[in-house]
Amino acid sequence: MKKNIFVANWKMNLTVAETKNLAEKLGQSLRSFKNDKTEIILCPAFTALDDLCTVLRKENPADLKIGAQDVFWEEKGAFTGEISAKMLKEVDCRYVIVGHSERRKNLGETDEMVNKKVKILLENDLVPIVCVGETFLERQKGLRDVIVARQTEAALRDVKLFGNKKIIIAYEPVWVIGTGQAVEPEDAEHSHRMIREALMENFPADVLEKHFQIIYGGSVDSKNIKDFVDRENIDGVLVGGASLKVEEFVKMIKQLA
Ligand code: 13P
Repeated sequence: MKKNIFVANWKMNLTVAETKNLAEKLGQSLRSFKNDKTEIILCPAFTALDDLCTVLRKENPADLKIGAQDVFWEEKGAFTGEISAKMLKEVDCRYVIVGHSERRKNLGETDEMVNKKVKILLENDLVPIVCVGETFLERQKGLRDVIVARQTEAALRDVKLFGNKKIIIAYEPVWVIGTGQAVEPEDAEHSHRMIREALMENFPADVLEKHFQIIYGGSVDSKNIKDFVDRENIDGVLVGGASLKVEEFVKMIKQLA
């Protein structure tokens, strides 16, 4: 039985000190809580990864995992400002978010770049968390399914999966991110089915079953989380704002138990 995925994307919100503080509080709050159903992944800013790694190496009863918010697609070299997969592994990162809509919009991240990032991550045995999702305008034009399928297929072009390699696809309708108003769970599930269909174009059913999980992101909180993960086609969540508050975070994890 696969575990539910809970990814906390802390975006550009916490300093190193704040990250450590939040992680320590989460560790304490979840200490006595038997968490065997959920894979909890914390994605702080790059600057905080090393300290988070130190905190979790010392004590980690809740088995919190570390993720990054981006990676560069080359192994190493003259790429000013970038971070490599090897650098992320060094600080115990196991997961990396790629293609987040905020990067697509603000930094011009394209499907081709996302594809290259997915490949370098898999080569380095890291798990890509590939974000896909339509904007409000695209949805209004009836393009949701087309966009979601295109982004999924493009991100995974020529990707080979074997052994224990894993990919998480996160469906995030861009227009509900940070609004406090998620889409209806059945609406999200429709997109998850579209993603599954797009994957089926390129991967056989057994590969799909073994190597992929599809999660939902966009204004998830302790009130709606269960409605999403209770759906058959939704394997977990990617949470922004609500994951920055200890109480809310813990409430959400308890809902998944
Ligand atoms: P919110 O949960 O704040 O809507 O953010 C979602 C998100 O973008 C996670 O990657």
